[in-house]
Amino acid sequence: MSEAAPLTFSFLTLFPELLAPFASEAILGKAAARGLIGVNLVNLRDFAGNRHARVDDAPYGGGAGMVIRVDVAARALASLPPADEVILFTPAGERFTQRTAEELSGREHLAFLCGRYEGFDARVEGLVTRELSVGDFVMMGGEAAAACVLEAVARLRPGVLGDEASHQADSFSSGLLDYPEYTRPPEWRGEAVPEVLRGGNHGAVAAWRREQALARTLARRPDLLPGAGLTPQDSAALLRLGVSPAQLDAWGAPPPPVPKRRRSARRGAAVPAPAAEGAAAEADVPPER
Ligand SMILES: C[S@@+](CC[C@H](N)C(=O)[O-])C[C@H]1O[C@@H](n2cnc3c(N)ncnc32)[C@H](O)[C@@H]1O
Repeated sequence: MSEAAPLTFSFLTLFPELLAPFASEAILGKAAARGLIGVNLVNLRDFAGNRHARVDDAPYGGGAGMVIRVDVAARALASLPPADEVILFTPAGERFTQRTAEELSGREHLAFLCGRYEGFDARVEGLVTRELSVGDFVMMGGEAAAACVLEAVARLRPGVLGDEASHQADSFSSGLLDYPEYTRPPEWRGEAVPEVLRGGNHGAVAAWRREQALARTLARRPDLLPGAGLTPQDSAALLRLGVSPAQLDAWGAPPPPVPKRRRSARRGAAVPAPAAEGAAAEADVPPER
């Protein structure tokens, strides 16, 4: 089977040295060395087109700060092989999310325009395919934003992470926040690792983790729940966590499983089946809806 083409990230920046370590260190450094990703650092100053290597100028209409010239950005972009996406980093852009990372991870060449000062001349918008913001705050430059996107996108490429499954349970990938993780020591400052994680029952571990992910998301990011692809077992767990049936309906969650009933041998009466251990305990009898 042929190897997938590498995903190349081209960074157009006034400070390429800020981004260089992301391409040479840790997992991304190894991925670059193995040819799984490519990183291309382009100094906007090389495309200034004047003797003084000036890339910016004062804003028309007056005001504080300097604006990066659009012709500089255009020349720098024209020096690259065609990109699938040209992304401008700006606080005014669409919010970068895990979904965007998943979408971008399927491309072969991404070009990132990193602003400084007051940002780029607005006419740069005609050169880009999308504008991304990494949050509602203003940084001094687009390099840290571009590094966030590099990290989030590159780790989704096949082979970059050792264990492919490791990003599937990540916060947001499953639609929920991640469950809490523990390692040695089993007890620290009076806090013990939950017993279920040490019992070796994989079904029970999976059920506990799912319920923890639901509980965390409910406590910290309930806005994620309507889009989390909740299952009937999740609905049962959320009812146990105190969510009302009306709220479950509002989130579009499916009804919890109907408890299995078995016939009583003695009188033929239906009695609820006993709750099984571990994963099957998810099918606990939920409160009446
Ligand atoms: C000081 S900021 C410019 C802010 C601009 N005057 C504004 O208020 O939208 C300089 C550069 O940092 C980058 N930047 C700052 N905050 C960002 C954010 N939250 N997301 C993405 N890029 C950001 C952009 O590339 C921007 O051009």
